Amino acid sequence: MEQKNKREMFSTGFAIFFATLGSAVGLGNIWKFPYLLGTNGGGAFLLVYLLCVVLVGIPIMACEFYIGRKARKNAVGAFKKLKASKGWRTIGFMGVASAFLIAFFYSCVAGWVYSYVFKAIRGDLVGVTSVTAKSKFMSTLIGPFSPLIWQLIVLIVVSVILIAGVKKGIERITKTLMPVLFVLIIICDIRALTLPGASQGLKFLFHVDFSQLTGPVILAALGLSFFKLSLGMGTMITYGSYFTKDNNMIATSIKVALSDSLISILAGIAIFPAVFSFGMKPSEGPGLLFMTIPLVFSKIPFGNILLVAFFFLTAIAATTAMISMVQVAVAYFSEERGMGRVKSVLFPTSIMMIVGILATLSADPTSILSNIHVLGQKGFFDSFDYLSSNILLPVGGLLIAIYVGYFAKKEDFKLELSNQGTLNNDFVLNIIFVFIKYISPLLLVIVFLNSIGFIKF
Ligand code: PFF
Repeated sequence: MEQKNKREMFSTGFAIFFATLGSAVGLGNIWKFPYLLGTNGGGAFLLVYLLCVVLVGIPIMACEFYIGRKARKNAVGAFKKLKASKGWRTIGFMGVASAFLIAFFYSCVAGWVYSYVFKAIRGDLVGVTSVTAKSKFMSTLIGPFSPLIWQLIVLIVVSVILIAGVKKGIERITKTLMPVLFVLIIICDIRALTLPGASQGLKFLFHVDFSQLTGPVILAALGLSFFKLSLGMGTMITYGSYFTKDNNMIATSIKVALSDSLISILAGIAIFPAVFSFGMKPSEGPGLLFMTIPLVFSKIPFGNILLVAFFFLTAIAATTAMISMVQVAVAYFSEERGMGRVKSVLFPTSIMMIVGILATLSADPTSILSNIHVLGQKGFFDSFDYLSSNILLPVGGLLIAIYVGYFAKKEDFKLELSNQGTLNNDFVLNIIFVFIKYISPLLLVIVFLNSIGFIKF
């Protein structure tokens, strides 16, 4: 991304919004949100998730934009540039580590999606039933070669786009395809809502049963909000560093967080009615998306074309999200380690492929790797996910809030987020600052202490 002396930048506010949304919207909305909601009790999880987005997600996104645009550097270099003492660079290093951990399993799931595009084009998914939809998903997992080749294809696509650079690569794709994805999800929703028994799915999604709220459920919702909004790991610091100086970054944070949540809910409306209508369990796990969407489109006119389009756009969403994640590592290696553009891309993506093999093969029930436990009962795939989403990202977010709330100058924060006083948004800025200083860190600490059993509620 770094050209000699001249850093690339997104060109307009419109491009900034879609590129940032392109990072937020991905497998998190379409794959992870529905399956976590399904395994964590439905509406209550949704409520906590939305609270996390508003109380923690939006303020921390604003902090990351502030740090990134002010420093115009990668996640590690930004703290150096802002003259923060050395320890704060840990946030950047943890971010680079999270980028790797997430990419190990994200590239695997993106590979499944790519393979579904191919299956849909070949007509393999026409006329599936709930039984065959399940067996088709299971066969997708079985390796060693097929899932690994799809994972490799994903990483090659991501690398090629990253080598092309921010503007040409990221901007063009996100601003044209995000709106199309939105329309397709709505079509999916309409179809899902007309399935017999759809109301049961809606009830599951929206009915809040407070007895479902346990410490681990709340931690999962918090972790998901970070994962969803690409927070706590320097992605938004890195993207903020490409923002134009007239961008209203508070407005961008709010718009991105709300649009992203809307897309997650719309994905839930597409999936849960189908789950109940076809007699499946909402707690089906990571295969939920792959087992339900082919059923949603079966037996309707143009169903297969819509299915191809749906998985194609999901593949694009997964790819643009992955680009932003890998970019955290690329910007670090090019700016801090002096690697050239090609090397700074291929070095991290090669490691992602090599270690990613562990994630992919651990998801294959016939592989010996599926029996290896890394963290408690969790295999490689789930451990990478848990460590990044539930630990590293929230801890990264907590440190960012503490840095901005207690160590950076409040005046600097206000100047940067009001575009040097031209925006007249003092009121909102003061509110966001109170959140950053008191509310977000307190909530993060409470959720952590609760999840390790230190306090009970
Ligand atoms: N927000 C992305 C999603 O919901 O799919 C995942 C993600 C992208 C996480 C980029 C972290 C990141 F840096």
